Amino acid sequence: MTSNNASSPGRSAADVDLSVAVGALAFRNPILAASGTFGYGLEFARLVHLNQLGGLITKGLSLEPIAGAPAPRLCETPSGMLNAIGLQNVGVKVFVAQKLPELSKFDVPVLANVFGYCQEDYAEVIRILEDADGLAGYELNISCPNVKKGGLQFGGDPVMAGEVVRSARKAAVRRPLWVKLSPLVADIGLMARRVEQEGADAVTVANTYPAMAIDFRTQKSRLGNPTGGLSGPAIRPITLRLVWEAWKSVKIPVIALGGVETASDVLDYITVGAAAVQVGTASFTDPRASELLAGELRSACYEHNIFSFNELRGKFSAEIG
Ligand SMILES: Cc1cc2nc3c(=O)[nH]c(=O)nc-3n(C[C@H](O)[C@H](O)[C@H](O)COP(=O)(O)O)c2cc1C
Repeated sequence: MTSNNASSPGRSAADVDLSVAVGALAFRNPILAASGTFGYGLEFARLVHLNQLGGLITKGLSLEPIAGAPAPRLCETPSGMLNAIGLQNVGVKVFVAQKLPELSKFDVPVLANVFGYCQEDYAEVIRILEDADGLAGYELNISCPNVKKGGLQFGGDPVMAGEVVRSARKAAVRRPLWVKLSPLVADIGLMARRVEQEGADAVTVANTYPAMAIDFRTQKSRLGNPTGGLSGPAIRPITLRLVWEAWKSVKIPVIALGGVETASDVLDYITVGAAAVQVGTASFTDPRASELLAGELRSACYEHNIFSFNELRGKFSAEIG
């Protein structure tokens, strides 16, 4: 691949096809706003042209509203950010009644991010969403404690992850089901295969990394919780490997996210197999990050003679030298 477009005379940046398919879903470009970093989308509508995004994933929705964790909920760390939001959300019923009708006025595919504290919660949230119009699909966040199993994370155990996906799959009749994996597993390939076997349509790799930021002077956490989740560029190299490992292990599409800021980051993730990417922490630096990135991506692809992502996807060579 050359680093200019001299080998494509007569073609222009407008010829770059940014569209991607993730299973049955079609997106105008591969940039989706990540769950929990883009509210319900509506909060950003005055600043961002939502219709320019590939898609957006809502804040995690639970059966009942959750007030969330005490402040402070965010703190900066080198090349990243730590958060402990405590899964605050309005609850699925308020989302369906108040947020979804407004969101549906935009021409952007919306996936609902879903979580629960037991298997039944996940399925029930999906059942409520199944009755509503205006969604493209579901993204299951399995980085949550299962209260019935002593608070162990669903996402850390292939058996529990398989069970929760099986019951969610039964509930999700109308729409595709993506499963967002926890990065804190010994073998992400094993986990990805497990959820694929239970009927997931795609895997999202990955969530934040459990981490801490403290102040020795106060001997306290810099967050309202003792620990939080690390995100941003600091995690990108770690997640890049996970995406590659997951992609090698399954046939379903892999959606990548972790520290995406530039067009190069997007293209790197696509090179290790990603079908699309999500942008999270970058929206805190600039709410328009996802929209701007979609534009940047067209120029970067043209510059590197990439006219369709299929030319690049999964082309990473593990050969050395
Ligand atoms: C403030 C904040 C809230 C988040 N809330 C959720 C959530 O509700 N559900 C979920 O699946 N992921 C949530 N995440 C994880 C992000 O969607 C994403 O997986 C992670 O931040 C890594 O991507 P990034 O480095 O681009 O931020 C949250 C992340 C942040 C920073």
